[in-house]
Amino acid sequence: MKVLVFDSYEEMSAAGAEIICEQLKNKPNSVLGLATGSTPIGMYDALAEECKKGNADFSKVTSVNLDEYYPISPDNKQSYRYTMNSTLFDHINIDINKTHVLDGMTNDPDKTCKAYDEFIDSIGGIDLQVLGIGNNGHIAFNEPDEWLEVGTHKTALTESTMQANARYFSADEVMPTHALTMGIGSIMKARKIIILINGAKKTDALKKMLSGKLSTDCPASMLQLHPDVTVICDRAAYGE
Ligand code: PGA
Repeated sequence: MKVLVFDSYEEMSAAGAEIICEQLKNKPNSVLGLATGSTPIGMYDALAEECKKGNADFSKVTSVNLDEYYPISPDNKQSYRYTMNSTLFDHINIDINKTHVLDGMTNDPDKTCKAYDEFIDSIGGIDLQVLGIGNNGHIAFNEPDEWLEVGTHKTALTESTMQANARYFSADEVMPTHALTMGIGSIMKARKIIILINGAKKTDALKKMLSGKLSTDCPASMLQLHPDVTVICDRAAYGE
């Protein structure tokens, strides 16, 4: 893994945006795998700026998102569909019909998840996957467990993830206890991966991810098996 350490969140976000802009220059019809959460917001803001300036063209891009709460409606402000629209898609020249987020309202999660993997394969796979990491080492909603799932699947959220994400939900909103998520195998099939990590609360997960050992207790550690991962982190996360 290539590790890039930056002094600030802004520099980190700019570096991530630069990699995506480069990707789009090399392959305008790239398939981008995208993530939600607070970490990529700075990078998405930078991409919106680059798009405005004419330095990034998303018109031929297809995007697939990592995960979605379950059950949740796409109109719900906490849904990842709503979040992606408001933080990125509404600010760039992407065709909204070519943006894909797992259906948080499906009656048949197994079928939806299987179809999602098949769809990704059918469009040639993910060229560049953006990831964040949970305080507990999760990637997407692949939570630490005895076993990790290969394909896209429905999962229960761990107590630690529920606590970490509770900050987004107001007192009168009910936080879903489950999610649909790409599996570790779906993520590992991406040709190139960037993982953005900031803040001291992620240091432990980052260390485990780079430890040279694999553990289902730190799902991100599996990325050590991937041939093209760039870790983009700030000094606070990287630690001493
Ligand atoms: P965060 O979430 O960017 O909001 O810290 C990352 C994650 O849980 O994967």
